[in-house]
Amino acid sequence: MSAKPSNLQIDSERLWGAIHETAQFGATAKGGVRRLTLGPEDKQARDWFRKACETAGLEVHVDALGSMYALRKGRDMSKLPIGIGSHLDTQPTGGKYDGILGTLAALEVVRTLNDAGIETEAPVCVINWTNEEGSRFAPAMMASATYAGDYTTEDIWSRTDAGGVTVKEALDGIGYRGDEPVGARKLGAFLELHIEQGPLLEAENKTIGVVERGQGIIWYDGRITGFESHAGTTPMPLRRDALSSLAEVALAIEKIALAHAPQAVATIGEAVIANPSRNVIPGEIAFTLDVRSPDAAVMDALDRDIRAAIADIAGRRRTEIGLAQIWRKPPTIFDGKLVDAVQAAAAELGYSYRRITSGAGHDACNVAGVIPAAMIFVPCKDGVSHNELEDATQADCSAGANVLLHAVLAVAGVAT
Ligand code: GLV
Ligand code: MN
Ligand code: MN
Repeated sequence: MSAKPSNLQIDSERLWGAIHETAQFGATAKGGVRRLTLGPEDKQARDWFRKACETAGLEVHVDALGSMYALRKGRDMSKLPIGIGSHLDTQPTGGKYDGILGTLAALEVVRTLNDAGIETEAPVCVINWTNEEGSRFAPAMMASATYAGDYTTEDIWSRTDAGGVTVKEALDGIGYRGDEPVGARKLGAFLELHIEQGPLLEAENKTIGVVERGQGIIWYDGRITGFESHAGTTPMPLRRDALSSLAEVALAIEKIALAHAPQAVATIGEAVIANPSRNVIPGEIAFTLDVRSPDAAVMDALDRDIRAAIADIAGRRRTEIGLAQIWRKPPTIFDGKLVDAVQAAAAELGYSYRRITSGAGHDACNVAGVIPAAMIFVPCKDGVSHNELEDATQADCSAGANVLLHAVLAVAGVAT
């Protein structure tokens, strides 16, 4: 018997149970998760997810970059499936919700439809995108970007981690290099539920973020070359200290981002001194730089100002500073109709909501380039994410999953 779709709710306990069950794969002592993409813990989570999807009657397909597509048939199989999902990988010191919520909420939507005996017009496809985080292999969101045609599969297969392992080797290592060509599984739309990863919803006491835009992102690899010499014998004015240069670079970048606030953020997330020793002046440092803005013109201005500051610092400090752009993702504008469908679902369910711009990158931002896409945000505690302390309430996660469910019902249509 069919439940009345307008009254339908997901099973909050089952969703919460799934989140906490999968959090054991890579669980850290501080209550977070370390589940680097294509590592053994990622395989455990993927295997769990595959089994849960198959038990829910879905047909699981894996593409050549390891992204997983679990298909629930619709009444009209000539219609393109509505994709829902997110990612199962985490940061090295990540939390239990970033990505996992969206993937497991998508599974929960299907479980709820099954229990209620609801057939949708269009098929529904639950997706786990490979390597959203980008911390083991760069760039982030490489599988959805390839899906959208931004890279070739061969290019992404050849990317290496810090230990020289290629993406292709890592996929084979866990048995998740599938047969399906990346991008072959056409979708009619894509919806992703995610924690906000920022402070706005919580501060304004809103349950749902109706995401209408995403920030643009530039990633750089930087290198500072100074001169290694003796810490005790080299007079201060004669030094060419790579670390002191980096310190100036970090402060200059902070000042430039602040000058464009709130339209810009910039972060040096990694810095590694080559051959470090406490009595050697650092001669070589590799660092990363992540620069973001929702405005493409501001991204250009940041790039220009940062390069000018770096040239000045290098000249004054007699060091060489190289900055290579390795990735540029323009700002995202999500599909107006789909964004409206998310807002209508939130309103019908009686949740408080606001329109919001995503500060983080998401797979939905990539696929938005080729199909209609939108996102749903729910609050996380103190806006903290990419941290083991990341936290969200069961009520908010369930509210987000209910909005996802009702947006799916509206977009996929209910068979009569
Ligand atoms: C992905 O998590 C990002 O860096 O925004
Ligand atoms: Mn994420
Ligand atoms: Mn993340």
